[in-house]
Amino acid sequence: MSTDATGLFTTFDINGVTLGNRLAVAPMTRVSASDEGTATETMARYYERFARGGFGLLITEGIYTDRAFSQGYLHQPGITDEAQEQAWRPVVEAAHRHGAHIFAQLMHAGAISQGNRFRETSIGPSAVQPKGEQMEFYYGKGAYPAPEAMNEEQIADAIEGFAASAARAVAAGFDGIEIHGANGYLIDQFLTDYANRRRDRWGGDTRQRTTFVTAIVEAVRAKAGPGVPVGVRISQGKVNDYAHKWPGREQDAEVIFGTLAEAGISYLHVTEHRAWEPAFKGGPDSLVALARRYAPQVPLIANGGVQDRARAQEVLAAGADIVALGKAALANPDFPNRIQAAQELAGFDHAILGPIANIKPTELAA
Ligand SMILES: Cc1cc2nc3c(=O)[nH]c(=O)nc-3n(C[C@H](O)[C@H](O)[C@H](O)COP(=O)(O)O)c2cc1C
Repeated sequence: MSTDATGLFTTFDINGVTLGNRLAVAPMTRVSASDEGTATETMARYYERFARGGFGLLITEGIYTDRAFSQGYLHQPGITDEAQEQAWRPVVEAAHRHGAHIFAQLMHAGAISQGNRFRETSIGPSAVQPKGEQMEFYYGKGAYPAPEAMNEEQIADAIEGFAASAARAVAAGFDGIEIHGANGYLIDQFLTDYANRRRDRWGGDTRQRTTFVTAIVEAVRAKAGPGVPVGVRISQGKVNDYAHKWPGREQDAEVIFGTLAEAGISYLHVTEHRAWEPAFKGGPDSLVALARRYAPQVPLIANGGVQDRARAQEVLAAGADIVALGKAALANPDFPNRIQAAQELAGFDHAILGPIANIKPTELAA
């Protein structure tokens, strides 16, 4: 744990990968891949700016994992065939050129898929219509249709998709794998009581609902090999249910974080709207503090609402090892260099993400 003024700029080791500092770029979907889901030169230039700007770790946007039901958005990148795998190489090389490490975030959209060139319909743990509305800045509109409940074969295929994609990510040169277990996507649907009504081994109480994510961790670990960090991202809130809180509160945190620690993950990535605030009404502890308590030996990345140096240090002091920045990184792709030089930071302008959230030429001009 680092509380000193220079803590942000100390190295940190995750499963043998030594990050240059404690500042990471949070995963952000920017729907800028080709029609075929290959990463583009624009994307390589976009990621390169964060590396040049001093971030020790870049976590990619959510990458889809199979050619069936995983894709969530039109122009989302995938890593499911040779062409998609190769297209990531320039992105990885751009990060490495400036001394940053880069982890691939693997994502299956499940019931909240709103654009998939391989399928017209969606699948989820149970046939429960998702809350919320599709995101227009990702080419969606209106309610989400109800998904089909996954059968055993579809569950096995989804797990295999994560494993095969992890192998491709390692082959493309990525330094680590982040399994997207947060924000309302398929893995989070399995974790969530109201989205997972299954009575088989994939559903039940909180512990039982972790079966899917731990099966994915195991499969990914087997394919990625022992030297590659394999982490999991976890949240309470969802893109389609922003204010969701775990009904079992701290007990759910204990089960979820404890089970992931037992499963042997290399790091945990927790995200909340404001990382430093109490996770539950009336309780004192942030999700960062709870992750530290219930997964004490596991390296911890924390994300949510951090906009400046003081807040980043506060989150480290609360127990995180790494702080990930989303909007503040979009506004300041050179955030680490700026705070080290005591330069002023720019505020985030939402216009960057409109009307579509794709990478804008103005971002690359800087
Ligand atoms: C444009 C945009 C795209 C995002 N895409 C992803 C994603 O692909 N995967 C993910 O885990 N989180 C995604 N997020 C969530 C961010 O990683 C982060 O949790 C959120 O922005 C809150 O952190 P911040 O306050 O530092 O921005 C996205 C956020 C934004 C603003």
